[in-house]
Amino acid sequence: MDKLIIRGGKQLKGEVSISGAKNAALPIMTASILASGKSNFARIPDLMDVRTMGKLLSNMGASYSYNKGIAEIDSSSMNKFEAPYESVKTMRASVLVLCPLVARFGRAKVSLPGGCAIGARPINLHLMGLEKMGAKIRLESGYVIAKASRLKGASIYFDTVTVTGTENLMMAAVLAKGTTILENAAREPEVIDLANCLISMGAKIKGAGESVIEIEGVDELRPLKNYEIIPDRIETGTFMSIAGITGGDLIMKDCRPEHLDAVMMKLTDAGVMFKETKRGLRVIGPEKLIAKDVKTIPYPGFPTDMQAQFMAMMTIAKGTSVIKETIFENRFMHVAELERMGADISTEGGTATIKGVEKLKGAPVMATDLRASASLIVAALCAEGETTIHRIYHLDRGYEKMDEKLKKVGADIERVKG
Ligand code: EPU
Repeated sequence: MDKLIIRGGKQLKGEVSISGAKNAALPIMTASILASGKSNFARIPDLMDVRTMGKLLSNMGASYSYNKGIAEIDSSSMNKFEAPYESVKTMRASVLVLCPLVARFGRAKVSLPGGCAIGARPINLHLMGLEKMGAKIRLESGYVIAKASRLKGASIYFDTVTVTGTENLMMAAVLAKGTTILENAAREPEVIDLANCLISMGAKIKGAGESVIEIEGVDELRPLKNYEIIPDRIETGTFMSIAGITGGDLIMKDCRPEHLDAVMMKLTDAGVMFKETKRGLRVIGPEKLIAKDVKTIPYPGFPTDMQAQFMAMMTIAKGTSVIKETIFENRFMHVAELERMGADISTEGGTATIKGVEKLKGAPVMATDLRASASLIVAALCAEGETTIHRIYHLDRGYEKMDEKLKKVGADIERVKG
């Protein structure tokens, strides 16, 4: 298992190229199931999760190739409509094949995801919506088995805002007979990107990015050509935190700052400065960060996927900050690791109170999930001495060449293969 060794204390300076968004790439890849023929997409990041999705589609009979950010998927030869346990347990986003399969082929067998490191994460809302659209669903030996001759439009209200739930049902509705209304839908930029991609395929969707989405089903969609996905806002936010904590000066190339309003406002309050330049967004870290409180909420609120990185920054800020996690019940796994580095954090339920300390000290730590790994990198880059981060396969699932990008801007970071 690879690990990262980081010697902290360097002020990072230079340009960082932001990759395509993991959480846009994954649903968009599954959208290729909806039309027979060859689809291709640009700016797909070279990540473990993308490879897992490619493998899942290949195992279902599609042909998949990837070269330098271009993914090509030919779904015309698909003949197996199953996402097995092995795939779903490796990557929850595998459930995004459920609705496209039922919409195009009338059936799907998808393993139930089960719990994961950050919370229970059920898919009851995906199933509720699909059932409302006329699918017959049964659960058997850990699998969801769904069938429908043709889905029909329905009005669906989400009790909880769900990103992949909204995406899955949007993909069910585009080929259904009649109109579907999704209420209290997720408004994340990745939902809009998927909607734009479906519209390019011939779908009729209004309101993506708002909380009510209206979809008028069509009989057929055409494959997608040369669609370029949006930049990764969480990778951008992670590098912003890195500039913030190291007192660095980084230029984010190819990012979309408008997707990070809440994050940038909080970082500004904490002392980080932003300047638009011709080369990209310049992010300048302060001499001393100021403690600020944060509460995670669905987009356009502060993203749960940035909570751990923000907490890492707050460990050395002036004052005490309170971070409330409201999306996932177990997303504080990084706390114990940050404490190993000298952070002063107490938690109670979904609330963490962080008392800023003068400095962090390097220590051996363990990555427990994707964003937790990112937070340990943020912390290690400012810590005194050496930090070894174990189990960085979590990081490789969602960050493209993070260590190489950091090296380029002056970080003392080394990947040890093992
Ligand atoms: N929920 C339900 N029932 C459902 C679906 C969700 O109760 O049927 C609950 C969840 O348990 C959670 C809340 O609703 O408490 C929100 O979960 P959501 O469904 O929005 O999460 P997701 O779609 O599984 C996506 C991202 C996550 C990100 C969350 C929240 C992808 C592939 N994943 O997950 O990304 O944290 O939205 O923004 O888009 C990551 O990239 O590290 C990551 C975990």
